[in-house]
Amino acid sequence: MRQKIVAGNWKMNKNNTQTQALITELLQQLPATDAKVMIAPTFVNLAKAVESANNSAIEVVAQNMHQAEGGAFTGEISADMLTDIGIKTVILGHSERRAYFHETDALLANKVDTALKHEMKIIFCFGEELKDRQDKQHFNVVEYQLKDALFHLDKAAWQNIVLAYEPVWAIGTGETASPAQAQEMHKFIRETIQERYGNEVAEQVSILYGGSVKPDNAKEIFSQPDVDGGLIGGASLNAADFIGIINGI
Ligand code: 13P
Repeated sequence: MRQKIVAGNWKMNKNNTQTQALITELLQQLPATDAKVMIAPTFVNLAKAVESANNSAIEVVAQNMHQAEGGAFTGEISADMLTDIGIKTVILGHSERRAYFHETDALLANKVDTALKHEMKIIFCFGEELKDRQDKQHFNVVEYQLKDALFHLDKAAWQNIVLAYEPVWAIGTGETASPAQAQEMHKFIRETIQERYGNEVAEQVSILYGGSVKPDNAKEIFSQPDVDGGLIGGASLNAADFIGIINGI
């Protein structure tokens, strides 16, 4: 059975007080579920969030990290800094990192290697832009994002990889991929992994969908056979909506 996951990417939202308040609400309202529930507050609030969620069913994860071990990289955060405060998982390759901070698949391959070296799990994000889909290049784009950032890994490393397909045109726009579009792409992703790594890896890797998931569309998207959960932005910033989405899995 593949691990089901619902993860909230809080992006650059919530100060420390608000982070603590939302964690308290989530801990009070969290339903019993087989799915793994994760939240990704901003760096500055991570240490306290880890403490607050300690021994709970919620895992606190990071939104990003630098590829170097340490040194003169003003403003950056290393894998060691994250693991030292109890962070075990990092989101890498989010489309906002790619678009606004020029992260390429080659750079992301480096970040992936550093995270794995520190025994961290990775939620690796990728997905096509609107123009790629209009030009019917979306399968190509997704295939090369995967190959360029992840296909240097050996089979064993895949135990620590979760994929998050996030079509850029569906992020923060209110426009969601239809359940059929999500399933079509998730199936393609799993087949691409199967061709390179075989059935075992392809069948065990969790593939999350991200892009305007809300309580009212979560259930239908999550019910697709190759969709193993979601990476949620806006709707994870409010306890009722995030819990509503978790109830959809
Ligand atoms: P929205 O759910 O706000 O569209 O964001 C999705 C996302 O970017 C999660 O990483």
